[in-house]
Amino acid sequence: MFRNKSLATAIIAFAVLGTASGSTFAEASAEAKAGAHTYPSVEKTSADKPKQYKMSKEFMEAVGKLPPEFLAQFKKMTSKHTRYSEDATARQVMMEILSDVQCVTTGLMVENGEMAADCAMRASAHRWPKGHLLAYVQLHQINVESLSALPTINGMVEKGLERVADMAIKKDFIGASTEMGNVLRGCATCHNMFRFDKGSSKYIVGE
Ligand code: HEC
Repeated sequence: MFRNKSLATAIIAFAVLGTASGSTFAEASAEAKAGAHTYPSVEKTSADKPKQYKMSKEFMEAVGKLPPEFLAQFKKMTSKHTRYSEDATARQVMMEILSDVQCVTTGLMVENGEMAADCAMRASAHRWPKGHLLAYVQLHQINVESLSALPTINGMVEKGLERVADMAIKKDFIGASTEMGNVLRGCATCHNMFRFDKGSSKYIVGE
């Protein structure tokens, strides 16, 4: 069916990491070639479909080794993320999340439930960075053993932010603040496992 294995792998990766809307690889790459995205605009500040990037052979191999059941679970878990960036790196998207999370804490502290809820929902449904978040994980961590931590982390962070929003809108600021602690534990847990390189300077060569 497929011309070669790497094309098949690319399609698998696309189906899994890519879009929930179910468009084909051919459609997406044709659009990517034409540069045909309809944003930015005030109404539309992200793309509906991920732009296709040529990924390294090593990355495609690591993704190709993930079992189909795992990929299906991963896709289901992330299906609410339907906004994609063609420019932002993971670090930039993380900054956006951080900014939204700070907005949540401000809202809770000053008992502004609407502000807190808006920002919590936005942080929870953050956009995808270019090439998908998995493109920013170290290669040796793209396996079931490492990535199986993600559903728990996702429950703490993204589901947690939804619970925060729900409580904030009901003006339960104490409950929402407690839940926020769990969200932050989720951020820290993921960073502890997957974040590397704080952006060190290559000019500092000694102490
Ligand atoms: C699924 C795992 C994951 C979760 C959950 C997560 N992060 Fe991150 N975060 C990362 C990774 C990976 C990086 C490093 C990205 C890079 O440098 O390319 C990062 C980097 C960052 C950075 C950039 C600054 C730095 O020192 O690296 C900020 C800010 C940040 N995250 C904020 C947050 C906040 C706030 C939350 C929780 C609301 C959060 N992150 C949840 C994986 C995660």
